[in-house]
Amino acid sequence: MAEFLVELQMAAAATEAFLDGALSPDNAAVPERLTAAMRHAALGAGKRLRPFLVIESARLLGLGGDGPMRAGAALECVHCYSLVHDDLPAMDDDDMRRGRPTVHRAFDEATAILAGDALLTMAFAILADPATDPDARIRAALVTGLAEAAGAAGMVGGQQIDLAAENQMLADGDIARLQAMKTGALFRFACEAGAIMGRASADKRARLVAYGAAFGAIFQLADDLIDATGDPLSAGKKTGKDADRGKATFVARHGVAAARALIDAKVSGAIALLAPFGKEAKVLSDAVRFAGRREA
Ligand code: IPE
Ligand code: IPE
Ligand code: MG
Ligand code: MG
Ligand code: MG
Repeated sequence: MAEFLVELQMAAAATEAFLDGALSPDNAAVPERLTAAMRHAALGAGKRLRPFLVIESARLLGLGGDGPMRAGAALECVHCYSLVHDDLPAMDDDDMRRGRPTVHRAFDEATAILAGDALLTMAFAILADPATDPDARIRAALVTGLAEAAGAAGMVGGQQIDLAAENQMLADGDIARLQAMKTGALFRFACEAGAIMGRASADKRARLVAYGAAFGAIFQLADDLIDATGDPLSAGKKTGKDADRGKATFVARHGVAAARALIDAKVSGAIALLAPFGKEAKVLSDAVRFAGRREA
């Protein structure tokens, strides 16, 4: 686990430094209040697991350097925007995120909506920049992949189903689908982006994509467990809110023990997908173990 934690820390530091520069308060072209809200949303906290997965998937294919870090930072912009909007009063109505007031509490609702919009848009500018990859076809594949993962058939669509499902008892398959969209799509794209940039073979790309999808499912199951059993201080956000709002989760339907058992089975499945990568895949194996056991 030690090597994974070091790699995660390095990915987080590189992402933070890049976003700090991209969201510089010295950029006179951006309204000051908007920059401040975007910085509140994107800097100073967050586990940065999605950038880590881009960087580590690329590394597994022999690609290092700034490209994967930039693609990871772009994905993180979309993730941070999704959190800002997820917390809005019209959605989950949360006051605390990453141990701090949510963006609409620290600023105001309109500014939070706009900061989210601006982070989403910025992500595509980062991907389309030749510094991300010298090959325009690779950049186009990244842009298309992120658009699909973030959009109506991905994260946004999943959020729509999540809200519509409040106080409804969904079947297991429908819960799995909503979670695969709202959370899984961005994790899946993280690993796919590494595969695209690392010019993976079709088999390796398919394995990384399947690992990313499994990672996302495990990650959201763990998020639902944290909500049900965790405490706000370590989680950095209010807990017990899924039950209050009648969210459709596997934990609500089957309980904590069954959710833990499902996580364990999915972790083993995800690790099995990495077999052809050999010892080099230990960091990703440890990452998915971490995703299943995390408490924050
Ligand atoms: C929280 O994501 C939202 C979900 C998809 C469950 P993270 O737990 O990755 O949030 P940060 O970025 O580390 O704060
Ligand atoms: C969030 O799921 C998924 C997103 C796309 C943001 P949750 O609503 O469970 O995330 P938290 O618990 O607020 O972080
Ligand atoms: Mg939500
Ligand atoms: Mg929420
Ligand atoms: Mg949650």
